[in-house]
Amino acid sequence: MAFTRLLVCLLGVLLPHHMTTGLNLRPIIGVLAQETESSTYGDTYIPATYIKYIESAGAQVVPIRVKEPEDYYEKLFNSINGVLFPGGGVDIITSEYAKAGKLLFLMAVKAHDKGDYFPVWGTCLGFQLLTAITTGQDLLTKFDSTNVNWPLNFTQDAQKSHLLGSLPRDVHQYLTKENVTENYHQYGMSPEIFNGNPALSNFYTVLSTNMDRNGKVFISTMEAKKYPIFGTQWHPEKNLFKWNPKYDINHDAHAVRVSQYFASFLVSEARKSNHTFPSMKAEADAVIANYQPVYSNDGSFEQIYYFNYTLGWN
Ligand SMILES: *[C@@H]1O[C@H](CO)[C@@H](O)[C@H](O)[C@H]1NC(C)=O
Ligand SMILES: *[C@@H]1O[C@H](CO)[C@@H](O)[C@H](O)[C@H]1NC(C)=O
Ligand SMILES: *[C@@H]1O[C@H](CO)[C@@H](O)[C@H](O)[C@H]1NC(C)=O
Ligand SMILES: *[C@@H]1O[C@H](CO)[C@@H](O)[C@H](O)[C@H]1NC(C)=O
Repeated sequence: MAFTRLLVCLLGVLLPHHMTTGLNLRPIIGVLAQETESSTYGDTYIPATYIKYIESAGAQVVPIRVKEPEDYYEKLFNSINGVLFPGGGVDIITSEYAKAGKLLFLMAVKAHDKGDYFPVWGTCLGFQLLTAITTGQDLLTKFDSTNVNWPLNFTQDAQKSHLLGSLPRDVHQYLTKENVTENYHQYGMSPEIFNGNPALSNFYTVLSTNMDRNGKVFISTMEAKKYPIFGTQWHPEKNLFKWNPKYDINHDAHAVRVSQYFASFLVSEARKSNHTFPSMKAEADAVIANYQPVYSNDGSFEQIYYFNYTLGWN
């Protein structure tokens, strides 16, 4: 007994922490870039809101470039502990964002089938991308749901789900009763289309729906049945980090609590992955701290990281 404890102590000194706790306490989440509309600052971008969101919950962030050779994504996948597909405005089938996202998604599913835990999260456009990857089609339809906050309408399946099944009582209350989820989308996934498409309905479980301004219902939250893959049509990161006064964003304590809960959830998922960079130097060279965001205070109040296309992994 005493010997075992001594052994555990010694191992604790000698081994990385995650090998004694079972959790990776240096989680790193990749955030996917997407094409800019004008290349003034760069070919691709990531809004800083997504990066701060992840960092605020105790993980590092690595930007994921698009239009890279396949081995860039393979190396990166084996080095990081989860990916986030952010919101934005590019095509969910033909964009470089969509192509890179699909590669990473397929790697995550394949790895998971072999027992390798790897979370994938899609927000807004990222949620829509998840539906496109699964079906190979753009099945979105128009909704009137920009710049508006709503509570979620949970489905029956929410209470036994991984994402929403163990919500603390207060978060459950705020999420289902208060205007804490910021929507900014002109397209969405209707439950009829979802249910009529076996590729979607066999892969994902719908956890919540919402009605747009015209009373038209869209899917607002889903998770994969067999994988740690989660999608929200709404934006958990905005309540914390988006201050542009043109946007109607709820910054009250309940909205902030809900956002912090989902940031922590994502990072806790990433702690279950033990992928690591080949060296601390490789990690240090990859993290977002190597880049400087551009701040626009011309009324858009947004910090953005820009990237240009490269010729591959360095
Ligand atoms: C991308 O390239 C353009 C044109 O050379 C340059 O103006 C811009 O600063 C570059 N952006 C980044 C992030 O390197
Ligand atoms: C990493 O996790 C996998 C299962 O997800 C496990 O088989 C493997 O032994 C772990 N490796 C280390 C170094 O902890
Ligand atoms: C919530 O969803 C249920 C079906 O899951 C539907 O019957 C109900 O009308 C919805 N309520 C609102 C307010 O959207
Ligand atoms: C949420 O916002 C709607 C307008 O979209 C408003 O009618 C409703 O009263 C708000 N609910 C709460 C609980 O503040």
